[in-house]
Amino acid sequence: MALLTILEYPDPRLKRIAAPVSAFTPDIQTLVKNMADTMYDAPGIGLAATQVDVHKQVIVIDVSTDKSDLKVFINPQIVAASGELLGEEGCLSVPEYYDKVTRAANVTVSAQDAHGKAFTLEAEGLLAVCIQHEMDHLKGKLFVEHLSSLKQMRVKTKMKKRHREMERP
Ligand code: NI
Repeated sequence: MALLTILEYPDPRLKRIAAPVSAFTPDIQTLVKNMADTMYDAPGIGLAATQVDVHKQVIVIDVSTDKSDLKVFINPQIVAASGELLGEEGCLSVPEYYDKVTRAANVTVSAQDAHGKAFTLEAEGLLAVCIQHEMDHLKGKLFVEHLSSLKQMRVKTKMKKRHREMERP
């Protein structure tokens, strides 16, 4: 098991745009495995490769309560979206901060699995929200960037304080 380091806001590397995966090599399967291990260890319900400083379009998600439903999305595209859902979100890159964000309530996503096999999935509720949140990461966007600039400033201050405390010997 290999745990990867998760970048934290406002690290500028979280703003990088992820490139599509074109070759489904063993490296990609190892990345997926390590990302899943890192997500479960955190613990979290979703992780985008951007968060571990790998700028490829790779996402892992598991919204089950018993860690039994790992979903892998490579090169994801939202092909349909409907409804609206205001839900509380958090992010492993913004620890200990939660806030409400409006998302589509239902999404249809096309993606590839770790071996390059294409699939389409219809998602609703928490899974739909999680897919949109993780896909934002691949575009260099964090959930806090959906909030007001005042809130973003507060989160940034809170995170800087956290990082100062972590660096203290
Ligand atoms: Ni996140």
